[in-house]
Amino acid sequence: MKVLVIGSGGREHAMAWKLAQSKKAERVYIAPGNGGTAGEKNCENVDLLGHDPAEEEVQEALIRYVIKEGIDLTVVGPEAPLAAGIADRFREAGQPIVGPGAAAARLEASKAYAKSFMEKYRVRAARSLVFTDISEALRAVKAHFSNAEKDLPPLVIKANGLAAGKGVIIAEELEAAETAVNAFMKEGVLDGAGKTLVLEEFLRGPEVSVLAAVSVSGGGKGVILPFVSARDHKRRFDNDGGPNTGGMGAIAPVPDFNAALQKDFEEAILAPTLRGLEAEGFDYRGFIFFGLLIQDGKCYLLEYNIRLGDPETQAVLPMMNSDFAELCAAIENKTLMDFRLSWKPGAVCAPVAVAAGYPGDYRKGDPIAFNEASFAKTGAVLFAAGAQCGTGGAAGSGLRSAGGRVLAVSAYGANGEDAREKAYRALKAVHFEGMDYRRDIGGYPAP
Ligand code: AMP
Ligand code: GLY
Repeated sequence: MKVLVIGSGGREHAMAWKLAQSKKAERVYIAPGNGGTAGEKNCENVDLLGHDPAEEEVQEALIRYVIKEGIDLTVVGPEAPLAAGIADRFREAGQPIVGPGAAAARLEASKAYAKSFMEKYRVRAARSLVFTDISEALRAVKAHFSNAEKDLPPLVIKANGLAAGKGVIIAEELEAAETAVNAFMKEGVLDGAGKTLVLEEFLRGPEVSVLAAVSVSGGGKGVILPFVSARDHKRRFDNDGGPNTGGMGAIAPVPDFNAALQKDFEEAILAPTLRGLEAEGFDYRGFIFFGLLIQDGKCYLLEYNIRLGDPETQAVLPMMNSDFAELCAAIENKTLMDFRLSWKPGAVCAPVAVAAGYPGDYRKGDPIAFNEASFAKTGAVLFAAGAQCGTGGAAGSGLRSAGGRVLAVSAYGANGEDAREKAYRALKAVHFEGMDYRRDIGGYPAP
């Protein structure tokens, strides 16, 4: 079959790489892809001429493209095209697609909606209140911090809409909380995203990401198949210091996510979510991401994403034994119930290399050099993110940095330590001006 992947990041490179390994995948197309997918075996980028797949006209053009090219299945990477209804449009046009419709995509696109869903179906989550009126939100913030208790927990303030990771503030004191409420609701720093606000109880503990395949399409035969657990490292610097980023690296599986926690997650979060997706009558054939926090031996759901995680996917897909193209087909053609997922033993470590300045303004356009022989010895794979093909000259086929998170290397090992050792050795074989990375992905100081 011919498969089209929508997106341009490291996650999409990992998806295309895994799809291309399938005996069932005759060819993999990526719209628009990046410099890494352009060079991937059996893969080919589809030029969107700088247009965004979240735009309606681009989605219509993609439908015309899949019909013309005879694409058998489209798999969507990022949330924005899904929230904008790409899956509904494809299905109306009779084109098979992996991704939820816009109604279910509100589980990520609207935190207020996600919270109401969690409450309605009793999915275990932090306690929260939703506000649309700024004076009521400010009153609630004051009430929280005027509580007579000492050592008050911080307050978590979340903007409602898609905010590219900038919509969550953890306020330690009243002033910071008021500033955040005003910035979101009055000054509109996130455009429309902050008009509705969620105030949430602060939870303390390690975070775990569980990605899963979902096939719910009415008839009560829905299924959610969870993948091996993963952990993103969101802060910019070692030991979880510095600002939040899009993710500085991931590991899979998570050693502290043991069988008891897995069972707790399945009972308190996964099962009620599945009941909810069915009861709402969604057509949800795609992926879901559970952002968990573990406190006192229990899993709490912090967020749903309606897609695979980035950079978790770069760590999780190399752990998968199953054929990813077959899995995507089973999601779409409603046979996921009979699909048996299988995983490798061992572990994957996938640190991300970023450009100087990231997550602020960063350098771009630097050539990326490799020592191919030393890289190959580690068995690692490279997933490009903010990297494009260079143009001109002898270096014409090479990559150049073009984004903040430039690439991830993903190394498989017999265990976490082995994977980390290989990943950091692979990173040493990559160089671009100003390149930096965290040395502690997976909690191991890099050699
Ligand atoms: P979210 O987009 O809801 O996942 O929030 C982004 C990040 O903020 C999470 O990955 C957590 O690190 C943090 N966070 C969100 N909600 C809470 C909470 N209730 N308690 C503690 N940390 C939180
Ligand atoms: N790694 C978090 C995300 O994909 O949203």
